[in-house]
Amino acid sequence: MQELLERCLAEQAGVLELSTALAEAIAVPPGRRDGARVNGLWAQIDARHASLHSLRMSMARAERASDRADSRLRLKSATERRALVRRLALWPLMATLIPAHAAPEPRPLIPRNWPPDDPLMALVHEALHRLANPNAQSDQARAAECYPDIPLGMARFDAMCDAAHRLLLARGSTATARFLDVGCGGGTKCLAATRYFAQCDGLEYDPVYARAGQDAMAGIGARAVQVIEGDALRFDDYGAYDVIYFYRPISEPNRMREMCARIAAQARPGTVVLCPIDGETAASVGGLGQVAQDVFVAGTTGEALRAQCADAERVGPGPVRRSAGFDFDTGFWAPLLDAASLPWPEP
Ligand SMILES: C[S@@+](CC[C@H](N)C(=O)[O-])C[C@H]1O[C@@H](n2cnc3c(N)ncnc32)[C@H](O)[C@@H]1O
Repeated sequence: MQELLERCLAEQAGVLELSTALAEAIAVPPGRRDGARVNGLWAQIDARHASLHSLRMSMARAERASDRADSRLRLKSATERRALVRRLALWPLMATLIPAHAAPEPRPLIPRNWPPDDPLMALVHEALHRLANPNAQSDQARAAECYPDIPLGMARFDAMCDAAHRLLLARGSTATARFLDVGCGGGTKCLAATRYFAQCDGLEYDPVYARAGQDAMAGIGARAVQVIEGDALRFDDYGAYDVIYFYRPISEPNRMREMCARIAAQARPGTVVLCPIDGETAASVGGLGQVAQDVFVAGTTGEALRAQCADAERVGPGPVRRSAGFDFDTGFWAPLLDAASLPWPEP
């Protein structure tokens, strides 16, 4: 049993070495990635599958055959074997994911036609939106020419978040990315954005909406969401975000332009700005380069912008699941799961 346990640890250490090298090969912008190296390293890892599988069978047999005196060793062996079983269960998924990263095909950042809202998703979204903020617009917000809290369709929102996420992934890590919904109402878009981004804040002018959003997000335990009561025309922390989204916050065109100019002036170069419907206004203020319908990048133009877009188009869609997101130690898969451009496929 001792010998099998040692072999098990040594074999996994060997796979870890290979997967660390493979993660480095993948964490290069897709356009400059060495596909042959990715495939070669994956083939070396894949070749270890059969021996790890038979090793875990041998360990199980040895544990069953061991006598009571070996209880500590048996426990150690069983613990390591169970961890290995869970890692082996990820193998088919990695076998699909990794070769797809050798020479990724470009795919538009935003689909040509907006995907229709799935009827069940639309129903749930509508219900959540009403539960989060059942209030009428306050007189104060109406006087400031704010739009009421009318939600954008979730499929369109999700497609935009995906585009922003791919732009960030193409540049490197997204593990700490911060998202801001300017005019968040009850905060449901912030909640949805947590699928992609580590911290999702909402800024809301209407105090009644803001309070409702704060209560709703606290009520469902959305720890990565913070609803801030404030005015988009006075807010001076746009530079703290990697992705800034807004959907028809202000009805008065000059104020709307002022808000877009404020965001463009404060946003760090590379910040992704998502503005469905308001794209024309955003484009008119300058400082935001357009990469797709309603998707802009702050402080980036010309060739640099085109290169970013081309890199992002080669990043597959879907949120990334990192090693820390699993309820077990992913061991030799961890470097690959944490490699920045490794999107998790949709089920
Ligand atoms: C059309 S709703 C969009 C709701 C949500 N963001 C979505 O996409 O589903 C616009 C929201 O922006 C808020 N808003 C309007 N003017 C604002 C301002 N100056 N500062 C912050 N929020 C504002 C409104 O109160 C309203 O909740």
